[in-house]
Amino acid sequence: MADSLAPIVAQHYNQIQEKGLEERKQSRIFHMQEFCEKLRYDRDNKEDRKCVLDIGSGKGGDLLKWKKGGIDYLACADIAGTSVEQCQSRYNEMKDRHKIQRERGHCFDAEFITADCTKERLKLMYKDPEIKFDIVSCQFAFHYCFESISQARTMLQNASECLKPGGFFIGSLPDAYDIMKRLEEADDCTFGNDVYSVTFPSKEQPPLFGAKYDFHLEGVVDCPEFLVYFPALLKLAEEVDLELVFCKRFEEYFEEKRQIQEGQFLLTKMNALETYPPLHDDQKLMGCDEEYYKAKQKVKEIIAAESPNRENAYVGTLSQSEWEVVCMYAVFAFVKKGEKEAGKSE
Ligand SMILES: C[S@@+](CC[C@H](N)C(=O)[O-])C[C@H]1O[C@@H](n2cnc3c(N)ncnc32)[C@H](O)[C@@H]1O
Repeated sequence: MADSLAPIVAQHYNQIQEKGLEERKQSRIFHMQEFCEKLRYDRDNKEDRKCVLDIGSGKGGDLLKWKKGGIDYLACADIAGTSVEQCQSRYNEMKDRHKIQRERGHCFDAEFITADCTKERLKLMYKDPEIKFDIVSCQFAFHYCFESISQARTMLQNASECLKPGGFFIGSLPDAYDIMKRLEEADDCTFGNDVYSVTFPSKEQPPLFGAKYDFHLEGVVDCPEFLVYFPALLKLAEEVDLELVFCKRFEEYFEEKRQIQEGQFLLTKMNALETYPPLHDDQKLMGCDEEYYKAKQKVKEIIAAESPNRENAYVGTLSQSEWEVVCMYAVFAFVKKGEKEAGKSE
C-alpha cells in the first residue's frame, strides 16, 4: 500500500495562516452551539462536568465557541504540531483575558494533544485516563480518516470510546454525493469557482476508502482529501456503538435552523452571516456585488411588502461563490448507545 498522506496534510495545516474566510467558515458551525445548548438544558446533575473532545481542532478557531457553550473541560487533538501549539497559546490568552477583564462565569480547563487521530489511540494520552466526554466534535477533519479502513476505524474508536452513553459525536464533512454530482457535471476532472476548486485523478468510480481528490479553498486549504462513503461510515460507526441522529446537507440544515426561532437566535449570536447591504460604508462584502443578487432581490421584496416608504431593509446572506462551497458540506450527529465497550480490544 502507498505511504499515508498524513505528513503532507499535517505540513500543510502547520504552515497556513488563518485568513478571513476561515474565520467566517468557523462562525457557521452553529450546530456545535446547538449541542452545547442541549447539554445545558438536558443535564440533570448540575455537578457533572461538561467535557468536550475536539478532534482536528486546528489552531483553535472554535475555542470561543466552546467558551460561549459554557463547557468545563476541552481536550484538543490534532496531527499538526504547530497548530496545536498555536491553539494552546490562543487558549492561554483567552484564559488570561477572562481573568483580567473579570468576565462573567468561568473559563474551561483544557489539554492539548498532538496525534494522528486516525492511527493513535487518544484514550492512552488524556491527562485523566478515566475522562468521559459529553460531546466529541470533528469539524472539517473527519474525512482525512477515509484514507483507509483501518484509519477510519481508529478515528471512530477515538470518537466513541470515551463518550458518555447518550453523548454526541458531531461534525461536518464534505458531502461525497454532492462532490460526485459536481464531478459528473464537469467537463474534465476539475470543478469549482473563484473561491474553491476540486480535482480528481480521473472520472472513474472511486474506491470506498482512499478516494483521493485535491481540494483548494482560497487561502485556506490546499491539500489532498478523501471522500467519505456514507454507508461505510454508518457501518463502522455501528461497530463502535454510535447511532446516527442526522446527517444533512449544510444547505438543508441551515434553512431548517433559519426558519425556527431558536435557529435565528443561534445565527445572530454566532454572527454566521454577512449583512446585505453592508451596514457601514467601511464594511466590505466577501464577494463582488453580482454575487448578492438573491439578497438584493430579497431586500426589494421586504421593502415592497412592508412599506413603500421604507428606505432600506437588511438580510443575512453569503456570496454565491461562498454559498457554493458551504453547500458542498454536510453536518452529522451520532449518539453513543448503551454502556458497551467501544471499538477494538485493548
Ligand atoms: C480544515 S482544518 C479544520 C480545523 C478546525 N476543526 C476548524 O473547523 O477550523 C482540518 C484539521 O484536521 C487536522 N487533521 C488532518 N488529519 C488529521 C489526523 N489524521 N489526525 C488529527 N488531525 C488531523 C488538520 O491538521 C487540520 O487542523
